[in-house]
Amino acid sequence: MEASFLNDVLTGLSGSPKSLPSKYFYDATGSALFDKITELEEYYPTRTELQIMRENIDAIGASLGEELAIIEYGSGSSTKTRMILEHIPPGSTYVPIDISGVHLNQVADGLTADYPDLHVIPVHADYTTPVDLPEFDGRRVVYFPGSTIGNFRPANATRFLKRMHTIVGDDGGAIIGVDLKKDPEVLLNAYDDASGVTAEFNLNLLARINRELAADFDLDGFAHRAIYDEDEGRIEMHLVSRKAQTVRVADRAFRFERGEYVHTENSYKYGIDQFSELARGADFWVEQVWTDKRSWFALFLLHAKQAEV
Ligand code: TRP
Repeated sequence: MEASFLNDVLTGLSGSPKSLPSKYFYDATGSALFDKITELEEYYPTRTELQIMRENIDAIGASLGEELAIIEYGSGSSTKTRMILEHIPPGSTYVPIDISGVHLNQVADGLTADYPDLHVIPVHADYTTPVDLPEFDGRRVVYFPGSTIGNFRPANATRFLKRMHTIVGDDGGAIIGVDLKKDPEVLLNAYDDASGVTAEFNLNLLARINRELAADFDLDGFAHRAIYDEDEGRIEMHLVSRKAQTVRVADRAFRFERGEYVHTENSYKYGIDQFSELARGADFWVEQVWTDKRSWFALFLLHAKQAEV
């Protein structure tokens, strides 16, 4: 982990423009800050997705099939997962895949205690890479909530969905949470809240680099910035250097101009047709779309097409 973390940071800071990989946001501090983000007034996605689930859970459960295996990518959000597990037939299988082994086992133990009829098969892996799954029965449906799909560039999202197709097989399915395009003001506030939690989350990346990679980022020397790029349809998160400065990471030195941007994250926003098109590019049919009354967020039920012969 450490060697690749260092490598990824050095590579990102050597680029022009500079960037840092978002997957390193989630150390213990970052994960706790992210939980706080999901409770912010301005951060509507978590709340809206949960509401869509609540309103449609019977239909969602009924649409999945009889003998089921739910595979969850990044099994964080137990509230939403439990809603699904309570609305599928007894004897189904649940396969949480998570990069954090500790977290995974806690989740698995809790679910096994609460749902004795459920087969829980935890898989400790990075779901963004090809994963080998153990054997289990049932129609495979991947559950991927939280609009995490929006953190991939569209070409990578297609590649990721293609791999998902291979994992669920012909006639498998997927339930994917997707944040939708809306008033840029609403979007910007969601990624730059008044109480500064998102800023702290973004800056924690520098704090983590200091802690783990012998670096000397001055946290007051950088500011959080969220931008909406209308053409790309994405929120970008940046850290902006407030002054000309040099930062040391391991044995390397990096020069920052005053006002220079370091790109840390993208969050793509889709139209319903646009995401349907992207899914079709990975040979998934859109079986159903559930949304809220403002059409701010959508839950897509996808069906894996059979390869044509
Ligand atoms: N996928 C969610 C989103 O894009 C959560 C998320 C990822 C996020 N990175 C973030 C939220 C950075 C706030 C800031 O909204």
